[in-house]
Order: sequence, then C-alpha cells, then structure tokens
Amino acid sequence: MNNFFITTGRRTDGNCIVKAHSLAEKYNMHFIYRNNEPLAQIKKRHDCQTVIIVKKERISIVTSSGELFFHPNMAQLRIKRLLKNEKDNMLTAMALKKGMSVLDCTLGFAADALISAFKSGTLVIGLEADPLLALIAEEGLRAADFSVKELTKAAHNIKVINVNHEEYLQKLPDKSIDVVYFDPMFRHPLMDSLSLTPLRILADTAPVTKKSIDEACRIAKHRVVLKENSKSNEFDRLGFSSICGGRYSPVHYGIIEIGKYV
Ligand SMILES: C[S@@+](CC[C@H](N)C(=O)[O-])C[C@H]1O[C@@H](n2cnc3c(N)ncnc32)[C@H](O)[C@@H]1O
Repeated sequence: MNNFFITTGRRTDGNCIVKAHSLAEKYNMHFIYRNNEPLAQIKKRHDCQTVIIVKKERISIVTSSGELFFHPNMAQLRIKRLLKNEKDNMLTAMALKKGMSVLDCTLGFAADALISAFKSGTLVIGLEADPLLALIAEEGLRAADFSVKELTKAAHNIKVINVNHEEYLQKLPDKSIDVVYFDPMFRHPLMDSLSLTPLRILADTAPVTKKSIDEACRIAKHRVVLKENSKSNEFDRLGFSSICGGRYSPVHYGIIEIGKYV
C-alpha cells in the first residue's frame, strides 16, 4: 500500500504517533510526521489524494470526497431488535442458526457480518477487496467496545481478509462453509442508503460474476445468499430463483438452497 500515507491529527500526542507508526508497518504504508502541518500541504507535497489519519478517538480515511471511519451503522439497532426476538430479513434468508459458519464476501463496514457473528456465535470471515476499507474494518472491529456487549463480542469474532472474493473462493474446499453471503454495491444504488455514502468512493463496484456464485455454491453446505435492490435483474442473471424480503422493501435477498443444515 504505497500510494497512500498515514499520519496523525495536527495536534497529536505520543500514543497516536506510536499507533500510526505501527499501522504503517503493519499495512506497509509510509508514515509522515505531521508536525502541525496542514493536510492539504502534505498531500500536495506527496502528490497523494488519500490519507489515513490516526487520532485519539478513531482512525479515519480522508479522500477527495470527505472523511470516512468505522461505524457499526444499523448493526446496533438490528442487534437490539434481535435481542427482543424480532426478526431480521438477512438472517431469515440465511436461515442462520447458532454454530453455523458464514463467509461474508463483501464486508464493507461489516454491519451485516456483525449480525451474522452475533447470531452464529462463531467466527465469521469477511472479505473486502479495497485495502483501505479492509484496514478501517479490521482496526475498527479490533478496537470495538460498544455499549451493547453482544455487539462487541460479535466484532471480535470477525476475521477481515483484504482480497477479491472471486480469487479467495477458488481456494476453498467443497462444502466447507455453511452460508456464503454477498452484498455487492447495487447495480442501481439506493441513494438514500446513507450508511453506504462514505464508502462509495473506495468500494469495488464491479458486478458479482457468475463464476463467483458457482464457486460459492460449490463451497456452501447450506445456502448462498445475495442482497440486491428489489427491482434488480441480478437475481435472474446469477441464478437466484428464490427471493425473500418484504413486499414493499427496497432490498431483497436471493437464496440458493444447497442443503439442509443438520
Ligand atoms: C454494499 S457494501 C457491503 C456492505 C456490508 N454488507 C455492510 O453491512 O457494511 C459492498 C462492499 O463489498 C466490497 N466488494 C465488492 N466487490 C468485492 C469483491 N469482488 N471482493 C471483495 N469485496 C468486494 C466493496 O468494496 C464494498 O466495500
């Protein structure tokens, strides 16, 4: 990751400098000592648009279109609802039960993975193609300490891998994961989905390939699930004939049933 750099806030302390240093090493990025310099000046000097900034309260990415940082988004509200025994459409589509393994092929900021980890109570593997989004998710999940303790436990049960899912899926053995899940950037985005606004600039927007779905079907023991705009042709194109989601919901879940969970 050499075309980005990592620095601290303008007014910083020793802890942030040490943390920024160690992140730069971990992710193979350049560390730049901020020395109270305006960010615009450093960006110009290093001819670089995207910067990771380590502050006391959080790590964020500053891009040409604003700042983004890890946030559990709707996961907190969804977990509170689940704790009251309310239903969650994604979990219904997955038919997820305690102990089942989940591969989340499109991690983003991990809101869905948090719900999967909460329900399954076991490790969820999350794949994210963009290196900076993977970094933010990884560091945000590791540092998680939410007021809802179940959410914190779920966060610590997610393993983030920075990889394109098509490449990763090919390496997995047959029938090795219970549920394989895809939530790609929609072909026709729902622009009122505000939780996705910050990541649009960095996210991989390529359509899911039929090859990836075929591989997912080979790997899955139980189900392959695809989230998409309810009006999307992607369900047809990728072979999802069974669809679940509210009649008036803008989002639907396509299901390919592989086998019953025993
Ligand atoms: C709609 S967002 C996922 C949001 C996520 N489900 C959540 O709850 O926060 C889609 C994410 O998948 C990533 N992505 C898209 N194609 C991918 C691929 N082929 N491999 C891995 N990640 C991919 C994008 O970069 C983006 O971060």
